[in-house]
Amino acid sequence: MENKAKIITVAGKGGVGKTSICASIVRLLVEQYPDKKILAIDADPAVGLSVALGVDVKMTLDDIRMSIVDSVENGETREALELLSEARFRIFDALVEMPGFAFLAIGRPESSGCYCKVNSYLKEVIGMLAGSFDYVVIDGEAGIEQIQRRVMEKVTHLLLITDQSKKGGQVIATIKSVADELIAYDRIGVIINRVTNPELVELIQLPGVDVLTAIPADGAFAANDIKGKSVLELPADSAMLKGVKEALQKIEIL
Ligand SMILES: Nc1ncnc2c1ncn2[C@@H]1O[C@H](COP(=O)(O)OP(=O)(O)O)[C@@H](O)[C@H]1O
Ligand SMILES: [Mg+2]
Repeated sequence: MENKAKIITVAGKGGVGKTSICASIVRLLVEQYPDKKILAIDADPAVGLSVALGVDVKMTLDDIRMSIVDSVENGETREALELLSEARFRIFDALVEMPGFAFLAIGRPESSGCYCKVNSYLKEVIGMLAGSFDYVVIDGEAGIEQIQRRVMEKVTHLLLITDQSKKGGQVIATIKSVADELIAYDRIGVIINRVTNPELVELIQLPGVDVLTAIPADGAFAANDIKGKSVLELPADSAMLKGVKEALQKIEIL
């Protein structure tokens, strides 16, 4: 896969703020680079990134996968090339055009049965699609294996997200060791989110990885969330956006 795109993804324990941070990254990229092509991929079956970005998802990549699988099971014999071109063509059905960015939801993980062929075509197609963008932001469930298996083999920027809990720190340490074994990445950094005790932040350290920023527990962010507003409607001076901006600057995205 030839790819000039910067591919940014997040990993960390559930509830630490991965989706919120991904949505903030998309917003900051759109503001900073209005002329660049930006793709947001929601790889969490719960499709939280769509809500955080105010995107109305009508079809996921899984819906497309299932319809291709169904047609194969119904006895339509088709050649590999035909399946690949159908996947390539139909991925655009699932792509939502938003002001300044495009959005793709992956949907459910594979259900029972091995449709390995269709899955690998779709991954190939995601790779081709990503290659036509300048920035790709991928929100996942927790680990990095799921993203690698379902979305992309390689990322350029891996952001490990934790809260100030012991458990959160342990989870990102585990993710880092898995990533070092499995994933090709160029840059890595830690974001500590929802901090209430800044004096304790220095206790969170991961050997060989920079802490890019510590984002305070942000009342404006929580209020925005409760009102059902998207991150695109968040005040520009919110602690969340400031923190994510700092992290992106340190890792040379902004
Ligand atoms: N810095 C923050 N301040 C206040 N609330 C936050 C902050 N970061 C995340 N949240 C809230 O925490 C909850 C979990 O965040 P989310 O981004 O969904 O986590 P994850 O994707 O890691 O499961 C959401 O309700 C979100 O609004
Ligand atoms: Mg999430």
